Amino acid sequence: MFNIHIPRYERIWLIVGSATLVIFLGLFGFMAVGMNLNPPGHMMTIDPQAVTVTPPFNNLGVRKLGLDDYEVTMIAQMFMFQPDTINVPTGAEIRFQVTSPDVVHGLEIPGTNVNMMVIPGHITEFVYTFKEPGEYLIVCNEYCGMGHQIMMGKVNVQ
Ligand code: CUA
Repeated sequence: MFNIHIPRYERIWLIVGSATLVIFLGLFGFMAVGMNLNPPGHMMTIDPQAVTVTPPFNNLGVRKLGLDDYEVTMIAQMFMFQPDTINVPTGAEIRFQVTSPDVVHGLEIPGTNVNMMVIPGHITEFVYTFKEPGEYLIVCNEYCGMGHQIMMGKVNVQ
């Protein structure tokens, strides 16, 4: 099998390369299965044709659940966010729930780590706490068509 001559350094690189591949695939498999790490919120599904009549998306906007516990339900669609402006308090835990009735969109709030992929048929969830008051921009960061660059919203954190 190893009748062909492989130079020493090439052999070393082949071994290092294969070992790295095996280690990282193993790590990846362990994290996905053993530690149950999955992309955020892609486990919940929804009928994209019936978004506006399916709870919680039949009642969009900000809901107060507890003292420092809020839920924000939004729809990302061509080419807007609904609602396009939300008001939330500083320091509260905000659970974003977003879905799309048409194509894949993104919901990114620059300057924070809120960066969600919004896929039709799925509900994407992300929890974030705004520590600084101010006006935050919401942008779509997945190309979704002709109006992609005008698709934006605003978060007022008071
Ligand atoms: Cu929606 Cu780009």
